Amino acid sequence: MGRPPYKEELMIIDNINKTFPKEECYLAVQEGALLLYLRSLDLNSFKEAIQKWLVASDLLEVYARNNEKNIFAGILEQIENIGSYGIKGGKRVFVGYNQERKVKDRVGKIAKRGMHYYALDHGFSRTENKLPAEYLDKIICGDSEEVLKKLPPNCVDIVFTSPPYNFGLGYENSEDGIDWNAYFDKLFAIFHECIRVLKYGGRIIVNVQPLFSDYIPIHHIISNFFMENNMIWKGEILWEKNNYNCKYTAWGSWKSPSSPYLKYTWEFLEIYCKGDLKKSGSKENIDINDEEFKKWVVARWSIAPERNMKKYDHPAMFPEELVERSLKLFSFQNDVVLDPFSGVGTTAVVAKKTGRRYLGIDVSEEYCKKSELRLKEIL
Ligand SMILES: C[S@@+](CC[C@H](N)C(=O)[O-])C[C@H]1O[C@@H](n2cnc3c(N)ncnc32)[C@H](O)[C@@H]1O
Repeated sequence: MGRPPYKEELMIIDNINKTFPKEECYLAVQEGALLLYLRSLDLNSFKEAIQKWLVASDLLEVYARNNEKNIFAGILEQIENIGSYGIKGGKRVFVGYNQERKVKDRVGKIAKRGMHYYALDHGFSRTENKLPAEYLDKIICGDSEEVLKKLPPNCVDIVFTSPPYNFGLGYENSEDGIDWNAYFDKLFAIFHECIRVLKYGGRIIVNVQPLFSDYIPIHHIISNFFMENNMIWKGEILWEKNNYNCKYTAWGSWKSPSSPYLKYTWEFLEIYCKGDLKKSGSKENIDINDEEFKKWVVARWSIAPERNMKKYDHPAMFPEELVERSLKLFSFQNDVVLDPFSGVGTTAVVAKKTGRRYLGIDVSEEYCKKSELRLKEIL
């Protein structure tokens, strides 16, 4: 404060100290400074109480008259900025979280045995190349394996994609529902190219559904592939689609332990990094805000499935919001975003809307044309 407190300020400080338990939150004035001791707090009640006392006193007028900032608003802002602690009993907890950690000597353990041991001998180069101009901000119609082979190594920042799941969907110009070995051979040939064209520190995010009736855990098989190819598994996001309108039982399995049929209302985003968990980028190119960051690092996203599939006549689109959150959380503006199974261009559309560069590839001319139309609609 740098001055003695006003009587109105003292009144509010006194009210706070009487209202909130001293061992949780306490305000003291000491040598012209206002000190806040904070252990835990119900932030909403705190805000409401301060608001009430500010209105009841003449303090806001005093601040306006003296051209001073509202110190209580400043306190609230500072508390809100301490965002990384947990919530217990409806209160934000600011102290003592370390004591709750179950893992002892985490840093020592990492120093001794290393992290992501499966990806340490990667040998990836840090040299970066430019994506050639003829591919920048383009939708290319063709087989991704063939198209990607024409690109130099290390020229894209992030891959965001959803491959066909070999489930039997009616895509235009590609067969879905082929022999599983042939399916994985083709998928991995394309993913090999994705790893090659990805820059050091870049990310590959694959949207994949956990189970179909063939009992092939394709999300695990895909993860094994990336780990065998020295990519670091950064984690997974559970995309909760709240899709409860699926049928509830397979014939004969109703209310019987013989073979209950499990239902999934969610899909996964599996995230892999090339060479390093950290990605370089400049601060000015960050476009995620505080609230989004706090919300989205909690790895369970509730987002409704895409509703426009009929409009675009594509059987398996993902919603723009899924792409937007992922791009803002894992990439910077101006980054080059690749989708090798681009469909009707949802990834490219979001990349363009959020100030990123893009390359979308799809084997269907029809889907590519629709992507172009969607992209043209964005100013
Ligand atoms: C799950 S869809 C992707 C949909 C997309 N996320 C969207 O929102 O529009 C998979 C896409 O992969 C395309 N595809 C299948 N095999 C391909 C290949 N070898 N190269 C490029 N695209 C391929 C299909 O045409 C289909 O559009």
